[in-house]
Amino acid sequence: MENSKGQWSSNFGFLMAAIGSAVGLGNIWGFPYKMGANGGGAFLLIYVILVVFVGFAVMLGELAIGRRTGKGAVGAYRALSRKLTWVGYMGVGSAFLILGFYSVLGGMVMRYMLGFLVNLFGGDGFGAEGFFGSWIANMPGMVGFYALFMLLNITIVMGGISGGIEKFSRIAMPALAVMLVTVIVYVACQPGAMEGYKFMFVPDFSVFDSLKSFFSVLKAAAGQMFFSLSLGMGAMITYGSYLSKSEDLNRNAIIIPVADTIVAIMAGMAVMPACSAFGMDYGQGPGLLFNTLQTVFMDGMGGFIGNLMGFLFYTLVFIAAITSSISLLEVNTAYIIDRKLEKGKKANRRSITAIMGAVIFIVGLPTALDGLGTNVAGGALINNPAITFGLPSVGATADWLDFYDMIAEGILMPLGSLAMSIIIGWVFGSRMIKEEATCSGHVYKGEKFYNICFRYIVPVIMVIVLYAQIQTFFG
Ligand code: PHE
Repeated sequence: MENSKGQWSSNFGFLMAAIGSAVGLGNIWGFPYKMGANGGGAFLLIYVILVVFVGFAVMLGELAIGRRTGKGAVGAYRALSRKLTWVGYMGVGSAFLILGFYSVLGGMVMRYMLGFLVNLFGGDGFGAEGFFGSWIANMPGMVGFYALFMLLNITIVMGGISGGIEKFSRIAMPALAVMLVTVIVYVACQPGAMEGYKFMFVPDFSVFDSLKSFFSVLKAAAGQMFFSLSLGMGAMITYGSYLSKSEDLNRNAIIIPVADTIVAIMAGMAVMPACSAFGMDYGQGPGLLFNTLQTVFMDGMGGFIGNLMGFLFYTLVFIAAITSSISLLEVNTAYIIDRKLEKGKKANRRSITAIMGAVIFIVGLPTALDGLGTNVAGGALINNPAITFGLPSVGATADWLDFYDMIAEGILMPLGSLAMSIIIGWVFGSRMIKEEATCSGHVYKGEKFYNICFRYIVPVIMVIVLYAQIQTFFG
């Protein structure tokens, strides 16, 4: 039955959309880099343990809350209890804040994609040396591509659930997989690739030597996991609300995190050895995805093949970014649609999506205008929040992107997820999850395991993440 808000047309379509949401810049850029910087294989081990004990449960919880209530994040928590609406607002709020800067990065990815396309046809797609540095200070360029990315996003979300998001993801996600495998295989054939694999995978167990270093790795891995699995921002609640009651929730809640983790590892197997093979430094932060890899493809590999690999790579990053950003926009669109319907009004998806996208575009604009923290002195139009507001210059105020990210990913997201695990584990009891998982005759496998996760493991991990985030926030 197609309700007025739309529904996924098949479980495969839902999976492609949900994995599309999960697989994003977090996998391709954040994961390999954080893994290398936090003990390599030791980080991977902790990450996988977290996915099993926290990721599976929270994924199941979010999908269940969404499907049970048939509402987006705010509506869903309100439907559980009026007193819990604020938890939903935290999710929608962080999706709102993240979508802006996420799209600025998405726009940059498009610019690189285009650059390699131009190169492929014999043109000069990047101009002089040091393209990255001049591009981030190129205000019309940054804003233009940001707008373009947002427009694409709006267009897809306007198409609705099965006709827009699902249709796009069904084609885009398999294409991403093919491109990723192609790049991995080509990179593996380069001399010097081994170093990159070693950097990523060889475990540095000295991170377990002191409690302090263990907690710092745990925090990095947990934060990364939540972001990468699209948890704590209402995305999976919203996507779950469009899932048919006859689908197996339990199984889906395992497939999505497993697929996301595999893609993260695969992305590392493309990025890290590509850097090592051409003697490039991995620890470049935002520069890794843009500056470093552009040099690797263009100058390291070089020639037609290098440009082709570059084009494939940035195209797959683009797909990863756009399928994630549509879920962030959908969280906001669904919120307004729910509100209108609850008030008995008509909800026009197309105009709601367009307005929401435009508002987010404006709020996110500062992240495109401060030259990623190079500020007015570096040729940008505005300064970072520290200079603008005269705040003490801590990590989170280094640029507007970090500032928004800290509020969203650093505070709203872990707080929201902590609240959710307490609500499921202690307030509503896991009976609700069980009812939802078994409503069409599926077996709820691992019930006892999930109960322990919700009651004890998830809250403890969330408190640790929250504490660590607040600490970094204040330097
Ligand atoms: N999971 C996405 C990534 O890895 C980001 C995201 C977070 C998307 C939350 C939607 C909701 O890049």
